[in-house]
This record gives sequence, C-alpha cells and structure tokens, in this order.
Amino acid sequence: MSIKLKTPAEIEKMRIAGKLAAEVLEMIEPYVKPGITTGELDKICYDHIVNVQKAIPANIGYHGYQHTSCISINDVVCHGIPSFDKKLKDGDILNIDVTVIKDGYHGDTSRMYIAGKPTIVGEKLCQVAQESLYEAIRIIKPGIRLKEIGKTIQKHVDKFGFSSVREYCGHGIGEVYHDEPQVLHYDADDGGVILKPGMTFTIEPMINTGDWRTRTMKDGWTVKTKDHGLSAQYEHTILVTDNGVEVLTLRSNENFPRIIEH
Ligand code: CO
Repeated sequence: MSIKLKTPAEIEKMRIAGKLAAEVLEMIEPYVKPGITTGELDKICYDHIVNVQKAIPANIGYHGYQHTSCISINDVVCHGIPSFDKKLKDGDILNIDVTVIKDGYHGDTSRMYIAGKPTIVGEKLCQVAQESLYEAIRIIKPGIRLKEIGKTIQKHVDKFGFSSVREYCGHGIGEVYHDEPQVLHYDADDGGVILKPGMTFTIEPMINTGDWRTRTMKDGWTVKTKDHGLSAQYEHTILVTDNGVEVLTLRSNENFPRIIEH
C-alpha cells in the first residue's frame, strides 16, 4: 500500500476544497426543517456549489450516482438518495454528506441535522457520534498507528451502548476521491500503517443505537441499520501535520480547534 504525502502546494488546494465543502453544510442549515424534501435540499447544495462556489459536486457521475449529496435519515446509515418525494418530519435526524472538487482537489465532509424538535435518543446519538469524531481527531499526530483512530472511536461509543459501523470506512483523499488508506472506525487491523506529515484522509464514523450491522436496499445505494435502529454520522477531511492535525473541513460555527499541536 502506498499512501501519498501531499506537498505544501497540494495542501493549500486541499484547504480551499475543504473550506468550500464546509461552507455547503453551513449554507444548507437554515433550510433543514420539517416539510422540505431531501430532493430540494440536494438541489440547493448543487446550485451553491456550481453557481456560487464555481466548483464541482464530486458525487455526480460517481459510479452512476446522480445527486450532489447523500442525505441519510434516521435508520439510514449512509448513501441515502435525495428525493422530491421524501419530506422531512419533526424529530428526524439526518446526515448531509457533500464532496466538492476545486482546482482538482477534493473536500469531503458531513454532519447531522435535526428537523424540528429533537427526540432524546436522536439528539444523544448525534452528540456521541460527533464526540467520537472529535476524540479521534484529538489523538492524531505523526508516528501513531492508524488503528488508534478506530480504537478511540469504538471506545467512546461503547460507553453509551452504541456501536460503530464496520462495513464502511474513511479514506485517503486528494486528487483522488477515495484513496489509500482505509480508515476503519472500530478496533481493527490497519496493516501496520503509521501516520506521517502530509497524509490527508477522512474520518467519518457511522454510529448506531443498536447493532453495527447494515443492509443495502434494492436501489443499490441506500444503506440501513439491520435492526432498524437510528444511525448518525459526522465526517471531516484532515491533514496530518508535523506535530498534530489540521481539520480541513472545519465549519466557521463549529466549537472545535482547526489546528491541534502536540
Ligand atoms: Co468520505
């Protein structure tokens, strides 16, 4: 396995792509309300990326996918297909996942939203999923094993009786959308990968209230929890720096440091 280390010029392009992806998630927030359809939300994201950011929505055409975002509601783990028939209901939890290409480089990020009044379990799951991402980011620095990331995520969600999905992982990212390494979100073998400055990859834990197992629907995309429990996901694209980590897709209103030095 060869993991590409980015040059300073490439890192600058990753910063720009990451910022644009983060801005899409900020821009869409006021629209996420009961009654709007996921098709409408997707259309707003498309228009913003193409017309305002003058960037490219990476998902369109990816293995035949036709939408800008994946929007995954309640028991949908990931890859929910936006639809003008799918209206948000009060208390729905949903993940919006976007990837933007600017100047040939990708920025990939997702977060949870709650439509209307949150349910207690929905809110708790979203909180724990976000914490698990933050805990993992906090430990990143050169010299540690890649597997420490998944171990940290699993340890955090286990405390709440939740589980971390195993079938889908984070990924190296740059000029290539899905590159090496695979970033697992549970305690598993990493093939001996050690983090080095200049690596860029996503961390995107999918956390379930029940069992971690999933099933894919007949549409070939939508992934749901096997036991119909809720699922929540947060994703950032990060850079391993000389002494820590930089979050390339940090949102302006996010209560987390962009740069951590160890
Ligand atoms: Co991703």
